[in-house]
Amino acid sequence: MEQEVEHPLLIIPMTMTTIEPNALERRQLYALMTTLVAPRPIAFVSTLSPDDVPNLAPFSYFNAGGANPPSVVFCAANRRDGSQKDTVRNIEATGEYTIQIVTYDLAARMNQTSYDYEYGINEFEKAGLTPIPSLHVRPYRVQESPAQIECKLFDIVRHGEGPLASNYIIGEILCFHISDLLLKEGAPLLDDRVVDFVARMGESWYSRATPESMFKLPKPTVG
Ligand SMILES: Cc1cc2nc3c(=O)[nH]c(=O)nc-3n(C[C@H](O)[C@H](O)[C@H](O)COP(=O)(O)O)c2cc1C
Repeated sequence: MEQEVEHPLLIIPMTMTTIEPNALERRQLYALMTTLVAPRPIAFVSTLSPDDVPNLAPFSYFNAGGANPPSVVFCAANRRDGSQKDTVRNIEATGEYTIQIVTYDLAARMNQTSYDYEYGINEFEKAGLTPIPSLHVRPYRVQESPAQIECKLFDIVRHGEGPLASNYIIGEILCFHISDLLLKEGAPLLDDRVVDFVARMGESWYSRATPESMFKLPKPTVG
């Protein structure tokens, strides 16, 4: 950052509204949290049903953990009728999945797969995406995504029950596939300025990590 600019909200006196979770309906709480924990990266998750029908769905409650071994977590909420999403059913049954990152040009096709298709519908076909085989797991990768990871289920942690309860799906990463167009020369690192990441915000909003929206903040060297 060239210059410190104070946020306008910080120079006027703030009044705060305190919201206790039990004052809102579950749907309102979920919506509030999507506007609060943002922007979120998107895990575009590919699974296979026990009878081998491919399934695709995006999940933006997604993050990475440590690297020994490398792991990732995403959270699928139960549907409004309390049932489990197809992704959770498939991962529970097969223990395998792939996660693709979502770039700007993939956003609309990714979004199409969030439609609540009946169990057993091939969402690759519905969204016009190309399934390609993985190396270590049976679920396909999405060819159109320039970075894909293969995962083995480590654990599913459930928090709550019924509508909108959480299923935290923790996976161990078995391997990464990254387009050479995204890799920095001579290092196993993505060049974040080239990727064109898309992130989810609240309501129908998304954001896009373009070079103009990025800034550098080196680690402090003195305490
Ligand atoms: C960008 C985006 C992010 C989403 N993130 C989540 C999420 O983090 N958790 C969740 O339960 N649903 C999320 N959804 C909704 C699911 O994708 C949707 O319920 C989908 O139909 C689930 O598919 P499945 O039943 O095939 O697993 C998201 C949808 C979109 C478009």
